[in-house]
Amino acid sequence: MAKLEGKVAIVTGASSGFGRAIAKAFAEEGARIVCSDLKPDAREGGYETDIATPTHEAIRKAGGQAVFVKCDVTKVNEVKACVDAAVKTYGRLDIMMANAGVFTRMSKIHETTEEEYDFTMGVNIKGVWNSDQQAIARFLEQGQGGKVINLVSIGGLVGLANEPAYCASKGAAANLTRQLAIDYGPDKITVNGICPNYAPTAMCRPYYEDETVKKFVEDVTPLGRWVLAEEIAKLAVFLASSDADFITGALIAIDGGYTAR
Ligand SMILES: NC(=O)c1ccc[n+]([C@@H]2O[C@H](COP(=O)([O-])OP(=O)(O)OC[C@H]3O[C@@H](n4cnc5c(N)ncnc54)[C@H](O)[C@@H]3O)[C@@H](O)[C@H]2O)c1
Repeated sequence: MAKLEGKVAIVTGASSGFGRAIAKAFAEEGARIVCSDLKPDAREGGYETDIATPTHEAIRKAGGQAVFVKCDVTKVNEVKACVDAAVKTYGRLDIMMANAGVFTRMSKIHETTEEEYDFTMGVNIKGVWNSDQQAIARFLEQGQGGKVINLVSIGGLVGLANEPAYCASKGAAANLTRQLAIDYGPDKITVNGICPNYAPTAMCRPYYEDETVKKFVEDVTPLGRWVLAEEIAKLAVFLASSDADFITGALIAIDGGYTAR
């Protein structure tokens, strides 16, 4: 049997990169998907081979079930409306994949503007807060548990050079993951975090295309390469499935050994 048969999932930031790969992988495992993002079209600069087809349409073309719901994760009312749309469309919610995130540019703290800080924190931690909060409220109403998965980063586990706002936001998301696991374990709601190293998505294209940065990441990663969106999706499927029922509060590095040093 498919690993997520009968489940309903929201994937935030589903139009591009990790979110897109995760939404497709969830659907392949039988879940019905609410693909939510600022717009249905993928970001320019991504590495998806079928980039012209919005994620929910690609899922449907492959025989799966999916809808698109516009949602800015920084606005709690929009996240609540997205959860309501999942319930209205598919009858329930089982999985919240809080994936939407942003990275502005490399800069040290004295070079980073207030706007860059607010923007990064707004999406990467307030957005995760809103997504987790609204999903958990629904899970409690249903009374049957649920799975929350936060797309964190190695930047939530260790300091990364020239990424102060990003690391601050991901560190907060990492510890929120642990905190929520404690509060909602008794309700059979699991909360886990995925912590990738660098991946070739639209977000990282400028760095992946820069031979010096690309090689630097390869050199500091024991397994010698960047992680792929499809590998993140496989871990997300595992954490969303009953195979991971006894895992909560875990921050799982999928980083080729980057943080093992
Ligand atoms: N690419 C990497 O190297 C990498 C590594 C570690 C962690 N991550 C994290 O993975 C997640 C996905 O990153 P990606 O590389 O796929 O990036 P991406 O830019 O390819 O995709 C991110 C998606 O999030 C959406 N988004 C941005 N702001 C939003 C908002 N306010 N509301 C709703 N959607 C919004 C974008 O429209 C986009 O479709 C992010 O949280 C990122 O921080 C990425």
